[in-house]
Amino acid sequence: MRPIEGIFDSRDYPDLLIGLKDPDDAAVWRLDAERGLVVTTDFFTPVVDDPYDYGSIAAANSLSDVYAMGGQPFLALNVAALPVELPIEVNAEILRGGAEKAREAGVVIAGGHTIKDKEPKYGLVVIGFVHPEKMLTKGGLRPGDALVLTKPLGFGVTTTALKQEKAAAEDVAEVVEWMKQLNRKAGALAVEFDLRGGTDVTGFSLLGHAAEVAAASDVGLHFSAEKIPFVSCARKYAGMGTFPGGAADNRMYYGPQVRLAAGIDEEMEMLLFDPQTSGGLLLGVPPEKLAAFLRRARQLKQPAWTVGEAVPGEGIDVLGS
Ligand code: CO
Ligand code: CO
Repeated sequence: MRPIEGIFDSRDYPDLLIGLKDPDDAAVWRLDAERGLVVTTDFFTPVVDDPYDYGSIAAANSLSDVYAMGGQPFLALNVAALPVELPIEVNAEILRGGAEKAREAGVVIAGGHTIKDKEPKYGLVVIGFVHPEKMLTKGGLRPGDALVLTKPLGFGVTTTALKQEKAAAEDVAEVVEWMKQLNRKAGALAVEFDLRGGTDVTGFSLLGHAAEVAAASDVGLHFSAEKIPFVSCARKYAGMGTFPGGAADNRMYYGPQVRLAAGIDEEMEMLLFDPQTSGGLLLGVPPEKLAAFLRRARQLKQPAWTVGEAVPGEGIDVLGS
């Protein structure tokens, strides 16, 4: 359900390039021929116990939607709901984690708003610039494009194991490191190689976001199951079934658009529908650019896995080995 659909008519907002008609990672407002403003917000409840890490992950996640548009963020505001019962130092650590992550991204946090709430919620409003003709959109993939993913999967199943007190400390540390990583370098690579198609992998899972990309780009997407990267503990927690509720929701909602090869077991299927917090970028890289793209990614120490390709057609195919 889209409760505000119909209230705004896109014809009244010719400079709103992205937002009303084809929702994407962030809204884009054209300032002039060479500059568009990218605007996005995201916030969520804690995914990890450490307040500093939580703030850092929430900020990296909020910033990601600007990178996922091929944009460069520069300004942010805090959005926070914090419990008065928590020690003041804990709340301060959440905000400090977010601020230091923003600073690492070259983004200044210039204020924001905090209210009291029982369960903490934190994130950012982020503003960036993008060239209006060089945006990275969900509709920008073409048949033949290689699908490149820049972080492994398995964050949801691991952080839910943590919530259920079933996760080993070293496993949590591994996913926290990934979730804290900015998509900045991956976004810069997309801009450097003049890519047009891409998004970030977050709550709707790899296959959910892929289904959106396939529909928006009017292509089919083929994934090779054995090429999809996972954090080292993903299979273990998948076997324990510690998926967040969103994984089953994603499967129910996007499942009809996905064809799975016979060899894909249910654990693997659920991992592909596992919601990610601060996941990587999923990029469409034209085949003639792929080798140079991967070479440059290695140079920049930016992980990049080729996990499939766009093809004529529709929907998602997950191919076995
Ligand atoms: Co996004
Ligand atoms: Co978002």
